[in-house]
Amino acid sequence: LDKKTFRSDLLAWYRASARALPWRAKPSLYKTVVSEFMLQQTQVKTALPYFERWIRELPGFDALATAPEARVLKLWEGLGYYSRARNLHKLALAITARPEPPRAPAAWLELPGVGPYTAAAITSISFGEPVACVDGNVVRILARLTADGTVFRDSSSAAKYFTPIANALVNKAAPGDHNQAMMELGATICTRQNPSCAICPVRSSCAGARTLSPEQFPRLAAK
Ligand code: ADE
Repeated sequence: LDKKTFRSDLLAWYRASARALPWRAKPSLYKTVVSEFMLQQTQVKTALPYFERWIRELPGFDALATAPEARVLKLWEGLGYYSRARNLHKLALAITARPEPPRAPAAWLELPGVGPYTAAAITSISFGEPVACVDGNVVRILARLTADGTVFRDSSSAAKYFTPIANALVNKAAPGDHNQAMMELGATICTRQNPSCAICPVRSSCAGARTLSPEQFPRLAAK
């Protein structure tokens, strides 16, 4: 796997063909945080109208921090997993209580509702921190790229295994776009079933695509 080739093929593809999503147009820290909270357990298509309304009604951390919890929950209604809304509200209170928002991924991990994936997404997109987002999509891409046949106990042990590999692969010149490109590749091309290898922008880097069935990666132990 030639990292340089992979990075530049991935980024060129993303910049030419990424979906125009509202949190990508004129991004701000606030929009990035709200979108990443919504996208933790919700698909892009479902989150879109909620995101647009949220930004209209609560346009920044101050508006969110001072809103009554009932209003916050009402705006979240339909997205499910309401602890995300409660945590986002608490996070806005924590951010506005500080002189400025933290920048380091480790500092974001201390905030409510922020796990490793969300900390990496927020800080890479907003501050250019060179950290990888690792979720099921990224695990799948990396397992296929390297045709790694390791059998994992569960998805979190797979994520742990691939985290250093993902971090080594991050494009330090554009970590936010790199991470979003990985998400986009996993959602649209390197899909769980029937991946579209024929049109994949990083096919030339992919050992899995040279096997009979790239779908076999990653391997998870049967429960
Ligand atoms: N899933 C999580 N974060 C995302 C983002 N920024 N763009 C698209 N899908 C995502």
